[in-house]
Amino acid sequence: MSPIIEVRAERAYTVNVDCIWRNELAKLLSSRSRVGIVVPSSLRSMVRDISAGQAELSVIVVPDGEESKSSACLMMIWNELGKQGFTRSDVVVAIGGGTTTDIAGFAAATWLRGIDWIAIPTTMAGMVDAAIGGKTGMNSSVGKNLIGAFHSPHQVLIDLSWLDSLSDRDFAAGLAEVIKTGFISDPEILNLVSDLDLAGIRGNRSLTVELISRSIGVKAAVVGADFKESFAREILNYGHTVGHAIELHSGYSLRHGEAVSIGMVYAAELANIKGILDAQVVTQHRKILTKIGLPVSYETKAWPQILQSIALDKKARGKEVRFVGITAVGTTVRMEKLSEPDLTSAYERISS
Ligand code: GLY
Repeated sequence: MSPIIEVRAERAYTVNVDCIWRNELAKLLSSRSRVGIVVPSSLRSMVRDISAGQAELSVIVVPDGEESKSSACLMMIWNELGKQGFTRSDVVVAIGGGTTTDIAGFAAATWLRGIDWIAIPTTMAGMVDAAIGGKTGMNSSVGKNLIGAFHSPHQVLIDLSWLDSLSDRDFAAGLAEVIKTGFISDPEILNLVSDLDLAGIRGNRSLTVELISRSIGVKAAVVGADFKESFAREILNYGHTVGHAIELHSGYSLRHGEAVSIGMVYAAELANIKGILDAQVVTQHRKILTKIGLPVSYETKAWPQILQSIALDKKARGKEVRFVGITAVGTTVRMEKLSEPDLTSAYERISS
């Protein structure tokens, strides 16, 4: 039987892992009057014969990638919902990667101050991260993801057949978030992948289901304990402080997961420098991530700009520079009051 994971956020919802999305969606839509399918142009052809029973179905095509997370795109979705007369009992269905679920979820959060939405993530990163957790939003000229709303989906449907068309690079980048949940909370995830390369993981369907389920299980538990990110939810940012700075420095030529992979090794090295993490666990990071084909180092000369991004981030949050660290696999800690020499030494260890 396919795993069903419950997320207890502002309300409870389920994530069906390993379902046939068309069948599950048809059941969910049978009682609705209007359905708005939000889909990126590259997946337009996949939504042709969705069965929505008596419901009036509109297909709203958005651009692929970050371009969809704009005010123009949001306005276009709102206009479409308005034209079709969407009421509180109608539903938005987001079919796509993280950018699509973010913008469609935000449109649903804001239309009539919140209508139901269903997430059908089509990428590994979307399945284990972006579609789960209830954060929806968009980008603007002042930064990425600064505008948004907490609005959990009504249901998340995960169909592994979407993964078949992903490139190895995208599959591996999504796995970075899975590995992250292993390091912060679920050592079994690391045991399951420790001797495998990417092909070994991709070629093993039941293992892929287990990894996705375990990773979502970690996120569900964290989000259930701290929906609005007051403290506990911060652990999901493991590898993200330097990861975001590297992603930005690369001009987004690196995938988010690739930057997070480097960021996790950085965070592990920093914890080792602070004397709270054994070198053996740092080595374990490099071994697992490298075997999957993920990067674990970054340009030496980029450090001044990366340090600046970290400092700017601190200013924006009005807080100390702080990192999520681990003291052992599965045990997280906040690393605060970090000196610039320590931050620099950790970077020297990951620079190439
Ligand atoms: N949408 C991703 C999250 O809530 O973490």
